[in-house]
Amino acid sequence: MFNLYRLLILCAALGMAETAHADPDLQYLDQMAAIHLTPSTDSKPGRAFVATPLQVLSRQEDWVQVRITGWTQAGAERVIYAAPGIRVLSATLPKSAVGDLILTDTQDDPETGLTWTRTELRGWLHDPALQSDLNQIWARAEPLFAKRCTACHQRRIPDHYTANQWTSHLKVMGPRTGLPKEGQFLIRTYMQHHAKDSARLTQNP
Ligand code: HEC
Repeated sequence: MFNLYRLLILCAALGMAETAHADPDLQYLDQMAAIHLTPSTDSKPGRAFVATPLQVLSRQEDWVQVRITGWTQAGAERVIYAAPGIRVLSATLPKSAVGDLILTDTQDDPETGLTWTRTELRGWLHDPALQSDLNQIWARAEPLFAKRCTACHQRRIPDHYTANQWTSHLKVMGPRTGLPKEGQFLIRTYMQHHAKDSARLTQNP
């Protein structure tokens, strides 16, 4: 019991240390963008999604080289998610780009039997819209949710559902709003980041 208590204090202290040394280069994608393996449009791009955290590594004219870290499911490495088992989309890649991913530690999820691998993607964005404050993105999402998701029923509470439940709900509810895909996706991402299990998103940067 005593040890568990000490462990909790240690975890809290480590968590605080991490916040205190927050990476100044950390940025968020302000909207969906094409991501290329080289600073050119020659190869087939992947997609990086709104609110995905990334680090800027270098710049070359209008191109910005970034690093996105996330998690992929074994056998389905083309899709990068924010945390193991939590389907908050960070990026999707063409098959040809999967070989360039840097795969590191793996985690087995006993609940689903799936294996998740921590993944680093280095790629180039052309003149991307970046945002250092995630709240600026939510300031765009929240009114969409408040207006478009209350036409037929009461406002739902984001943290009454898990991030993965929001994926399913938005598949059905998104199209009912009549919004373009990008607006629906923004609401989905907003709901996921405010879901019951959203703390796990920042535990796995
Ligand atoms: C055109 C009407 C309409 C709009 C717009 C709409 N909904 Fe719904 N929603 C429904 C109906 C009807 C139900 C009842 C269950 C069903 O049909 O699946 C429902 C149910 C739900 C549920 C409960 C599902 C469950 O199984 O517990 C959630 C959560 C939800 N809506 C969220 C949203 C969100 C978020 C939006 C905006 C992106 C939205 N809804 C927009 C009609 C709508």
